[in-house]
Amino acid sequence: MAYIKIFDTTLRDGEQSPGVALNTLQKLEIAHSLARLGVDIIEAGFPIASDGDFDCVNRIAKDVKGPVICGLARTHKLDIERAAKAIEPAEKGRIHTFTSASDVHLKYMLKQTREQVLELSDQMVRYAKEFTDDVEFSAQDCMRADPEFVYQLVRAAIAAGATTINIPDTTGYGTPQDYGLLIKNIFQNVPEAHQVSISTHCHDDLGMAVANSLAAVENGATQIECTINGIGERAGNTSLEECVMALYTRKDHYGHEIGINTREIYFVSRLVQRHTGMQIPPNKAIVGDNAFAHESGIHQDGVIKHKETYEIMNAELVGREAGVLVMGKHSGRNAFRTRLAELGYTDLSQEKLNDLFKQFKDLADAKQHVTNEDILALVETESSKVAEVYRLEHVQFQSGTGGMTPSALVRLSTPEGIMEETALGDGPVDASFKALKKMTPVPFELEAYDLKAIGKGTDALGEVSIRVNSEGQIVHGRAISTDVVHASVLAYVDVLNKLAAGIGRHKEAANQITMSMP
Ligand code: KIV
Ligand code: ZN
Repeated sequence: MAYIKIFDTTLRDGEQSPGVALNTLQKLEIAHSLARLGVDIIEAGFPIASDGDFDCVNRIAKDVKGPVICGLARTHKLDIERAAKAIEPAEKGRIHTFTSASDVHLKYMLKQTREQVLELSDQMVRYAKEFTDDVEFSAQDCMRADPEFVYQLVRAAIAAGATTINIPDTTGYGTPQDYGLLIKNIFQNVPEAHQVSISTHCHDDLGMAVANSLAAVENGATQIECTINGIGERAGNTSLEECVMALYTRKDHYGHEIGINTREIYFVSRLVQRHTGMQIPPNKAIVGDNAFAHESGIHQDGVIKHKETYEIMNAELVGREAGVLVMGKHSGRNAFRTRLAELGYTDLSQEKLNDLFKQFKDLADAKQHVTNEDILALVETESSKVAEVYRLEHVQFQSGTGGMTPSALVRLSTPEGIMEETALGDGPVDASFKALKKMTPVPFELEAYDLKAIGKGTDALGEVSIRVNSEGQIVHGRAISTDVVHASVLAYVDVLNKLAAGIGRHKEAANQITMSMP
């Protein structure tokens, strides 16, 4: 039996997802929740990428206790110095330095020979060791590299002092069999690999990231690099919740220990969804809306008679509700506070609690049953609110079949006073957005619009998430309402308020980093 370390890279590789740009406060909040989840290592960012990235890693290193805080660095002196400085305040800090292993990377990206890559890896691991004992070494694209060269790199990095050797399948090319075999062969060809932690880092291009990571564990890897909800570059990374629950539920098969508090999984997953704006598909294992829902009569009947007929794990085990509904318009403040605490919200101020209770009562008036999901949505909306510079005063719309052109009227309270506009559009949401656009002080492009029902039934809350790009700055807006047009307009107003508060992040700086030598 081994202890498998969970290395979370949501804030670094996960943030490399297209359209995702987290600000320092959001990263900090996620990092604190990862610490509560019990991850062993948090890869907090890539400090050389931008001053913003440096500050995030540095703040997390200062504030977040428990996990090792890790900063990424290419095999460049400046990168390593920057990463070292960023993690300096951490209780436990790690520098993760990386190069590439495949010929295609060496030829076209690094423009280095194998000898040069080996030499630089040796030097930079040694250099990183001058700042911290905990040094991780990675060579990108190991799965498409010559295995002999991978062994050489692993040997060199261990000799230089690396304590963790990561074997990335950067392009998601491997199958469980061949990725597992690569790990096995590393142990066979480089016996000193038994003295360090061999780590997996898989991407999901062929949908095999989780299977590949677990195959690596079966072949001796003791660290899994993964992200919450599996977010990341292209098709994403290994999903933390899937790996963790596989190791937990199938301990009979894997036989390993992990240090994760599984009951925090759902909370962190929702938090990451909210801050990144990346919606979790309903059928996503563990955290998707349908992951514990039983639809067919046969399944429902089975589960009512005995849960284990169709459930291999309890919803409560990952911090989700078992029952569907329980709160309604007669529920009092105390019951509401108790339910919030059960959902993980124990430290809300009295003022927030009062606001939320009022919203809960309004919602209970609008719909008969208020579910845990509704309550979570209320809290999440409330906690992502910023100062209300713009406030929706009124929205009215008309739509119908038979050649009727949808129209909308929106009245907004703005710093310049009350403004009102009307517009026609391809549907009431489009018409409302066009009316709002006429009143928008800074131009922005709508990059993504997502509408999701929270719960079932025609009275379900509609949750609208939008992503806009305002002169290179990414801003997410989100709102809920039992009326989807109303929710859409509120999400737009949320964006206006976030732009006014200066919340949003430019991604260009990080995107300009390449693998070539500076
Ligand atoms: O996918 C990859 O190879 C990476 C490395 C930087 C570890 O993210
Ligand atoms: Zn990666």
